[in-house]
Amino acid sequence: MAESMLGLKRSHRCAELGEANIGQNVTVMGWVQKSRNKGGIIFVDLRDRSGLLQIIFEESDCGEESFAKAEKLRSEFVVAVTGHVEARSGGANENLATGAIEVRAESMRILSESETPPFPIEENSRTKEELRLKYRYLDLRRPDMQRNLMLRSKIAILTRQFLAEEGFFEIETPTLINSSPEGARDYLVPSRVHPGSFYALPQSPQLFKQLLMCSGYDRYFQLARCYRDEDLRADRQPEFTQIDMELSFVDVDDVIDVNERLLHKLFKEILNVEIPQPIQRMTWQDAMDRYGSDKPDLRVGMEIQNVSDVVKDCEFVVFKGALEHGGTVRGINAEGQGAMPRKKIDALVEFAKGYGAKGLAYVAIQEDGSIKSSFAKFMTDEQMAALIAAMSGKPGDLLLFAADKFKTVCDVLGSLRLEIAKQLDLLKKDDFKFLWVTEFPLLEYSEEEGRFMAMHHPFTMPMDEDWHLIDSDPGAVRAKAYDIVLNGTELGGGSVRIHQNDIQSKMFEVLGLTAEEAQDKFGYLLEAFKYGVPPHAGLAYGLDRVAMLMGGCDSIREVIAFPKVKDASCLMTKAPTPVDAKQLEELGIEVSKADETEA
Ligand code: AMO
Ligand code: AMP
Repeated sequence: MAESMLGLKRSHRCAELGEANIGQNVTVMGWVQKSRNKGGIIFVDLRDRSGLLQIIFEESDCGEESFAKAEKLRSEFVVAVTGHVEARSGGANENLATGAIEVRAESMRILSESETPPFPIEENSRTKEELRLKYRYLDLRRPDMQRNLMLRSKIAILTRQFLAEEGFFEIETPTLINSSPEGARDYLVPSRVHPGSFYALPQSPQLFKQLLMCSGYDRYFQLARCYRDEDLRADRQPEFTQIDMELSFVDVDDVIDVNERLLHKLFKEILNVEIPQPIQRMTWQDAMDRYGSDKPDLRVGMEIQNVSDVVKDCEFVVFKGALEHGGTVRGINAEGQGAMPRKKIDALVEFAKGYGAKGLAYVAIQEDGSIKSSFAKFMTDEQMAALIAAMSGKPGDLLLFAADKFKTVCDVLGSLRLEIAKQLDLLKKDDFKFLWVTEFPLLEYSEEEGRFMAMHHPFTMPMDEDWHLIDSDPGAVRAKAYDIVLNGTELGGGSVRIHQNDIQSKMFEVLGLTAEEAQDKFGYLLEAFKYGVPPHAGLAYGLDRVAMLMGGCDSIREVIAFPKVKDASCLMTKAPTPVDAKQLEELGIEVSKADETEA
């Protein structure tokens, strides 16, 4: 029978107690981690969000009734214990924060009982993720999950504090909005009052924050829920949280400055890690050329070298062919990996093919200076020597080359660098390497759509010096857009916004929107810009990603209380679920396709 709290008051959390409390009378409450009955004496580890505390029951101290109850205790029972703090009788347990003490129980109430949980509530669970997510409320009792969510909370609180001190206002924007333009699919919400019309859930508060700048709020922020119906990965969820901000009368450097100080504060106060200020910057073009990625992981060297010029006269058809078709030949030097067994090299070739490579050419330089190579027979000795020199190859090094279109070569070598680094265990989670990637292309050609798309979003300001190319060479126009990258993950991104109607209209035209379509979709923004709009710029972080990296987690699911799985469903609540015919009827909706994944 569950007992009540009547007349009881908790005095401490479990792990708030220490040697300083010896001799005090305390009341603690929590979950039974473990109970051991040694005959006449019962040891209970009591757990709450602060940690564990050992309770000791002996009938002579706690009386017959409490002792009888203590004999019944099992894991996850919720109890309240009143007793005396003492030095540990059996000697201190160094592995436990409260290891020097124990509480000698004088009375106990069982506040609620528990069935045997489907998995043990303990650190470093090996339980399959599906089971953890089905019983998420139990999974969230585990100390590592509690640490993750507490870390996330600290990030949110410190961010609010910092931004408030910097003169930002926290303003909420609606989550039932018009279908928006950020690139992913929208989640739609049907309107009952307007049958056949739909709200969209925001992919970000982009347009509203720009309108707030038009309204003169000057500096805005919000911890904003965002929704994107896109393929899920370890760092993507259908609903996620942005630390979203917008500033007026600023340029790129102002946004970067305030954010460097925000990141510095978060890392210093939470992890005691000092981020070098200013954070390194690299243009998008440089990042692609040197690391094959717009979010390079700078924990690893292995920079990409362009050897197109060096191999342009050789007879290797793979290299020649790529160059003749306007492609490029580039390589990386996996230093010290020259003795890699053939099987492992073949596995790297297969890995590269997964990123679109047709193959991967290699030169393994042996310790004696001789080489093993997949294409040496097509090269003269001089050509090979020149290639090795261009790659700074030394005895013991492994050189890997990809020949293809620029984008494929970047994808292949960019991923290969990281794969090799992973295999060599070079990617340390507590090594934080930040980078601003700047000057992104304004537009990106989509083969699928057969037109240019905005690389960041359609409201991003082109660089002044490139704007004249918008008709002749739109792909060459760079944008005042920037991403903040940490250890190969895009933490956040933003841009200076277009605040001139003529540039904005031209942008819509380049993106293939007619004036009517633009008016239809974004008329309110264009209208607002007619009434005096300050130059403005902003940025948004994925809060989940910030927490994931600060917590050393492999997935953002580890820092979200109730996340979704790969098919965007929730294993605990089973959302999404079919709704009543009556509800559909009210909304004027008929369902024509059933969910084939339904069991
Ligand atoms: P962007 O689309 O780059 O920019 O998003 C900003 C940041 O949000 C995070 N993020 C996600 N996190 C988890 N799951 C997802 N599905 C997901 N998608 C994005 C990333 C990303 O860097 N309105 C602009 C910002 C601006 O220009 O101010 C925007 O939304 O960490
Ligand atoms: P092949 O003549 O197709 O057998 O290729 C000879 C070598 O070149 C093999 O080691 C291939 O893996 C490699 N190779 C093939 N295509 C490419 C490419 N596009 N880039 C780099 N190496 C390649």
